[in-house]
Amino acid sequence: MPAPASFRIAVLASGRGSNLQALLDAIAAGALDAQVVGVFSDRAQAPALGRARDAGIPAHALSPRGHASRDAFDAALFDAVDASAPDLIICAGYMRLLGDAVVAPRSVRMINIHPSLLPDFKGLHTHRQALAAGATRHGASVHFVTADLDGGPVIAQAAVPVLEGDDEASLSARVLEREHPLLVETVRLLAWRRIALGDDGVHFDGRPLQAPLQLAANNRFA
Ligand code: GRF
Repeated sequence: MPAPASFRIAVLASGRGSNLQALLDAIAAGALDAQVVGVFSDRAQAPALGRARDAGIPAHALSPRGHASRDAFDAALFDAVDASAPDLIICAGYMRLLGDAVVAPRSVRMINIHPSLLPDFKGLHTHRQALAAGATRHGASVHFVTADLDGGPVIAQAAVPVLEGDDEASLSARVLEREHPLLVETVRLLAWRRIALGDDGVHFDGRPLQAPLQLAANNRFA
């Protein structure tokens, strides 16, 4: 199979953009055969937009304030996303809820990275939630996006231990370090069309995936 150099990625990000940077770095290093065709944000000041501009990638900011409703904002945002003709849309720290009207038609080609081992700890403050629950394992998940917040079919996960004395900062740093290779490796599988969303969930190499892929210490899937 030829390398999918033309695999087009759109990234939605509201903040820091370290997951975006991991993708850009992997592409620049020749480790990920794809191109980021646009970065889209609901916050004009998002550092993620600066990272895009530094890489020569179109950076789009769209303010929710200028729109009458969430649906109107979503529609305008996805008009811009669609104009970049992406094969894959990645929510990487995109902090607004997306309505079903824009999600449903795109579920098969839209993923999100979430900082917990789903289905545990959906929503915000996942590291705080994990510490409060006394979890001994924590991590990150990449899943297809559905209207069910953080509830779409999970493709892959990376786990980390929760250590004695951890606080939110130390735990989130340990998870973030694993998020970056997790996202890059998952996108690689998507670019190669080895992962797909079927009616019965995630398919891997044409067969239903029984459990999420697990990223091993060597950054390969076990
Ligand atoms: C990450 O922890 C991601 O899992 C979550 O938001 C954070 C975004 O970080 N959805 P960054 O903007 O990619 O640095």
